[in-house]
Order: sequence, then C-alpha cells, then structure tokens
Amino acid sequence: MPVAGASDFRTAQEAANFLRTLTPHQPRAALVLGSGLDNLSHLLQDPQTVAYSDIPYFPSSTAPGHKGELMMGQVDNVHLVILRGRFHLYEGYTSQEITFPIRVLRCLGISVLVLTNAAGGLNPAFNVGDIMLIRDHISFPGMAGLNPLRGTNIDELGERFPALNQAYSPRLRALALQQARKQHLVLQQGIYVHVAGPNFETPAEIRMLRLLGADAVGMSTVPETIVARHAGMEVLAMSTITNLCVDDDASAERPDSDEVIVAAGQAEQAYLSLLPGILSHLNSVPPGSQH
Ligand code: HPA
Repeated sequence: MPVAGASDFRTAQEAANFLRTLTPHQPRAALVLGSGLDNLSHLLQDPQTVAYSDIPYFPSSTAPGHKGELMMGQVDNVHLVILRGRFHLYEGYTSQEITFPIRVLRCLGISVLVLTNAAGGLNPAFNVGDIMLIRDHISFPGMAGLNPLRGTNIDELGERFPALNQAYSPRLRALALQQARKQHLVLQQGIYVHVAGPNFETPAEIRMLRLLGADAVGMSTVPETIVARHAGMEVLAMSTITNLCVDDDASAERPDSDEVIVAAGQAEQAYLSLLPGILSHLNSVPPGSQH
C-alpha cells in the first residue's frame, strides 16, 4: 500500500482552505522558525495566531523550543506566514507527516519558503553563533528510503522525479548575502547534512560527515526543502551554528540540547537585522519561480 498520494493533497487543501478563512490577505512567503528562534515571530505586524491543534490534520509539536503555532501577518509590504515550530523524524513522525505543513503552505499560495535551524558545526572554520546559508544538502534519511516524496506522486503539486540541483535558490542566497553586507554581518555558506537524530553524532560519525564534505549537521530542514522544491517553491535556508561537533574520542566535551537552544537564541539579533531586508525584497519574486 503506497504512502502519501491523493488523500494528502486533499487534506492539505482542506487545511489551506481553513487558513484562508482567517485572513483577507494572500501571503506569498513563509518562514519556519528553528530551535531557539521563536522570538523572531515578533517581526510580524498585525499578527493572527492559530494553534497547530486547531488546523485540520496538522501534527502537534513535541520538540523543545517549538511552540506549535502558525502566525500570519506582515513584515513591511510582505504578507508572511510564520511556523513557530516544526516536526522531526526523531519525534516519531513519518517524512510525509513532517512535511505536511509545507504542502499546506503551497496550497495556500506560498511560493517562497525561508527555513531556519540549529546545527552542529563540522567545518573547522566555523564558530558558535555563525549563520550558514545552506548551499546544498546531503539527505541521509532520504537516501536511505525515508524520502518525503516516497509513495504515490501528487501530480497536482509536482513531478515524480524532481531534480534538486540548485535546490537552495541562488537568487535568494545572493539577496541574503547582499542584505548581510548592508548589516555588516558575515554569513558562512556550506553543505548541510540531515540526520534523523535524536542522539547527537558519535566522534566517528562526525569524522565521516566531514569526509563527505558536509559543513553543518542537523535534524531538520531537508525534508521540507525536498517537498517545497517538488512543488516549485523557492527555498532559502539558514543554519545557526549552535555547537562545534566533537570528533575526538578522548574528549570530555559533548553537545547538549540546552546549549543548542541558548546558542540559537543568541543569534536572534543577527536574524532580526537580516530577515526584514530579505523579506521586504520578496515581492519582486515571481510566484512559483523555479530558481
Ligand atoms: N547534531 C545534530 N543536530 C544538531 C546539532 C548537532 O551537533 N546541533 C544542533 N542540531
């Protein structure tokens, strides 16, 4: 019995229709807040808030620092949806459940998706607190069969075998770099590797991930990007480097989730100075652009 398919499309449309009743506006962009970045929702003017539990078919957030609310409002001239909290494989959800909100956003007419997350730094040049623009990804769960596109293809949304070259919009990355320069912020750029979690990686796994060419490791974002690109949305994704990965068996240092939330929160100021500039330029993005 194939997973996903027509029923997912119908339920996503139903959820989008419900959200449509809450606003007279047509939002074009959405922002997903990763761990520790919850306060970025204060960016929104005239916000409308709805609990995930009130949205038809939405899963509920169980991860620490993930509020479980959808907000709609404005940043300057741009109507925006903010997802306060996302879903992860480690919570026990399937890849399809994790990415259901992205399909809802697509059905709502969102064409630009901005994703944020907390990640471990693999690149030795990175420091805690750095923000990394994701240039490309490695999907361990996806390559091992936990791909959110597995199952009957939803032809209404996209093709069976989508290409993922330039999955992270070069145009939006250039816009982010330009805004960062204006704010005197340095952005790192690199490859994000998705792992299922919930344990942090062993030193041997860290050494392997480095050999594969990854710069940062985390437990989110990639399934959402795959589903968004399948449906023709433009994606910009940024990682906050919240800890430096330990690759030495003898080291007593170890990552912990409280440190991740605190370090992510400390990057909030940088996002607050960066995001309005990026978002206010999104109106020039053609809906459904395939960059
Ligand atoms: N590994 C995986 N996910 C993470 C990490 C990490 O070191 N830090 C924040 N999210």
